Amino acid sequence: MKSSPKTFAVKSFGCQMNVYDGDRMAELMAAQGLTPADAADADLVVLNTCHIREKATEKVYSDIGRIRKDAGKQGRAPMIAIAGCVAQAEGAEIVRRAKVDVVVGPQAYHNLPDLVAKAARGEAALDTDMPVETKFGHLPARRRVPPSAFLTVQEGCDKFCTYCVVPYTRGAEVSRPWGAIVDEAQALVDAGAREITLLGQNVNAWTGTDARGRDGGLDALIRELDTVLGLARIRYTTSHPNDMTQKLIDAHADVEKLMPFLHLPVQAGSDRILKAMNRSHSRDSYLRILDRVRAARPDIALSGDFIVGFPGETDADFAETLSLVDAVGYAQAFSFKYSPRPGTPAAGMDDQIAPEVMDDRLQRLQAALNRDQSAFNAGVVGRTCDVLIERKGKLPGQMLGKSPWLQSVHLITDAGVGDMVEVDIVRADPNSLAGMERVKIAA
Ligand code: 5AD
Ligand code: SF4
Repeated sequence: MKSSPKTFAVKSFGCQMNVYDGDRMAELMAAQGLTPADAADADLVVLNTCHIREKATEKVYSDIGRIRKDAGKQGRAPMIAIAGCVAQAEGAEIVRRAKVDVVVGPQAYHNLPDLVAKAARGEAALDTDMPVETKFGHLPARRRVPPSAFLTVQEGCDKFCTYCVVPYTRGAEVSRPWGAIVDEAQALVDAGAREITLLGQNVNAWTGTDARGRDGGLDALIRELDTVLGLARIRYTTSHPNDMTQKLIDAHADVEKLMPFLHLPVQAGSDRILKAMNRSHSRDSYLRILDRVRAARPDIALSGDFIVGFPGETDADFAETLSLVDAVGYAQAFSFKYSPRPGTPAAGMDDQIAPEVMDDRLQRLQAALNRDQSAFNAGVVGRTCDVLIERKGKLPGQMLGKSPWLQSVHLITDAGVGDMVEVDIVRADPNSLAGMERVKIAA
């Protein structure tokens, strides 16, 4: 039995939705009167875990061991709570194997305070339910947030790509109601946000009904948020090609606050592999969507996700991924080696690809993506754009912020965090841009 914790730390791994959940858990524990602390000193450590690729689970177990060992040296035994997708996927197995105090899934974390209280009484504290009743209604109001804030509007996935655990760990696609999102957006702006990124595993599958009873998709929600005073920028991620409606594409043409950036994962360039992945779009249909997006917003920065070494991927299939990359010219992208996930159809497929073949393909793909990222960054040099200042840089007087195309920009300025400054982009470095301030726009 452990005494009730007085301090806490939340460590989030994985995607931006986990970052959002981690922040909300921190707000929840702070609202219970607990004080935030470093993970190294906290009475309660929440590990908000990711299950998307291999080793994530093993990493959780080794993290638990390390936290215990470090705390043990100080004569402490912190309470450990496992949240997120590993909690959902492994459930009681984590309690059995690592004797953690609390296990809470991504749809149940509003119950974290109760679970912590139970654990303090020495009772079993596990909740991996996926209630229809939403957790969001049970979370405290947003208070202080960074200039660029996340807002989860949609959760879950019905697509069942054959490699992916998300439909199992996050459940079916659910959209948060219109009014709750608009209220939270306003609360975020009141608490200091100038940019909001709408989050969802399939964010562009979001649907809702507005105050006048009209049904709409993500485009309608974006147009509504465009009217929120004090909000300067809107982004959304991650989208699925099949839910990329013309209305949403049109919003990129005429909603000024909607930033010129689109993360649209394709995963592979070969139709044969896309079919085996159950992606339900083809190479061609994907490229046609991007043509329409570019027609609506010619300067749009495109981003994607790729998996190399899906079972059965031949050299010829992989060559099609490289040629798709050449055809698109991504501004940035994420690429991963295929990782068999227990319980997914692809894990049982024949023709799993040898690790050295995956390594080689990943290296070649990343070289192509880096080349295109550099070219995109170089293309912005000489342009003037707004930069939203997010934090201090390493050098004196230096601040860091983001361009409309989501590039990091560093500049010398006396502008503060949350200010929008007009900047001439003067140089492209491998992972960031150097800017010179023009005139400060009143915040
Ligand atoms: N192996 C490798 N990458 C994966 N992703 C999802 N599942 C797997 C897997 N089993 C990647 C996809 C997805 C991103 C979030 O993670 O590219 O878009
Ligand atoms: Fe996973 Fe596919 Fe759903 Fe994305 S669309 S979360 S890759 S199943």
